[in-house]
Amino acid sequence: MNELLIIRHLRHSFSQQLVLNDVSLSVVSGKVTGLIGPSGASKTTLVKTALGMEKADRGTAMVLDTKIPNRKILGQIGYMAQSDALYQDLTARENLTFFGHIKGISKKTASDHSKSRSNRRSNC
Ligand SMILES: Nc1ncnc2c1ncn2[C@@H]1O[C@H](COP(=O)(O)OP(=O)(O)OP(=O)(O)O)[C@@H](O)[C@H]1O
Ligand SMILES: [Mg+2]
Repeated sequence: MNELLIIRHLRHSFSQQLVLNDVSLSVVSGKVTGLIGPSGASKTTLVKTALGMEKADRGTAMVLDTKIPNRKILGQIGYMAQSDALYQDLTARENLTFFGHIKGISKKTASDHSKSRSNRRSNC
């Protein structure tokens, strides 16, 4: 199976606080993967470090066979930080269309994709 994300021995600290200690995992294509843990468990820090938004003290992260950080690969990653990253005044579809447009996807294509996804959901 194709590994989209490979994390090896990742370590990250904020000042004196060690928040990630020797974390290794991989995420494969075609599967929905959840990262769960209590508040403060370092889920966000792990994702940010894996994407190069935080600098790891040690260890490596590879996305699509490319060592992170790498600006080019960021264009192929969709990352939404928290629910507050969405515009509350827009519908879910309008948010998708808006952010799709920022990524260079035409309004029609983004709209078609969001419609087909919501249709698939309602057929489940
Ligand atoms: N920018 C920062 N500067 C200093 N400490 C930070 C920073 N970001 C996170 N931390 C600390 O790192 C630890 C992990 O935080 P993180 O936000 O990654 O946890 P989380 O699992 O995503 O939590 P939540 O479920 O609340 O989103 C916490 O102790 C937090 O206070
Ligand atoms: Mg978080």
